[in-house]
Amino acid sequence: MNRKYRKTVIAGNWKMNQLNSGVKPFIEELKANMPKARNCDVVLCTPAVMIQAMVRAGKDCRVAAGGQDVSKFEKGAYTGEISADMLVDVGAKYCIVGHSERREYHHESDSLVNEKAKALLSRGIVPIICVGESLEQREKELTMSYVAYQVRAALAGIDAAQIRRCIIAYEPIWAIGTGRTATAEQAQEVCSEIRSVIRKLYGARSARAVSILYGGSMNAKNAAELLAMPDIDGGLIGGASLKPVDFAAIVAATAQE
Ligand code: PGA
Repeated sequence: MNRKYRKTVIAGNWKMNQLNSGVKPFIEELKANMPKARNCDVVLCTPAVMIQAMVRAGKDCRVAAGGQDVSKFEKGAYTGEISADMLVDVGAKYCIVGHSERREYHHESDSLVNEKAKALLSRGIVPIICVGESLEQREKELTMSYVAYQVRAALAGIDAAQIRRCIIAYEPIWAIGTGRTATAEQAQEVCSEIRSVIRKLYGARSARAVSILYGGSMNAKNAAELLAMPDIDGGLIGGASLKPVDFAAIVAATAQE
């Protein structure tokens, strides 16, 4: 973390879990366990149908609501899609784009991820742009070049003012939902590379202002070590964000330093 230049962000990704009826009790338990004074932004990215409930429940404990996906289109005949305007309308402040599960199961390309990020920025929503290599790519030592390529592709056409409103999440695919976390050094190495790509594209001032998160089996036990790294500004948390006590402990881990 580096609080002098950028925000620390702990974002949960509920994926396709929980129900509307569970939102309020979840937030109540989270609130009871979370440190009162905190120096980080806390976000929960829920299925779209739960965003309103999250906005309502999260209001008095400063937990923001986010989506998990958005349409690249503004509006119209796109059955099943949800637009950036609709996310704004229900009170979402953030939205994940390019998660590896969407890239894999919905064949999302780098250029689609880029269009989605731009759709969000045009409506004032913070895109949490996910990148990360497969195990095969890591074993072939392609991690750095692949992640750098993904970051460049996702940011195409995004200007210097907009980059400061983006969050990048480094999520090695082999660490997602597997219980196999990247070591703090492995995660730092890639997050630092991501920052250097941003530096080359937008300059040093912009690069140091962008929050870069780590995601992939981050939990209450390993969070502090990962967050101690200079280029890891928070986490995108799947499994552990479904348990309020664990998620609260990750938020508490940002209090170090
Ligand atoms: P995980 O998921 O924490 O369950 O590994 C992270 C993510 O997919 O964002």
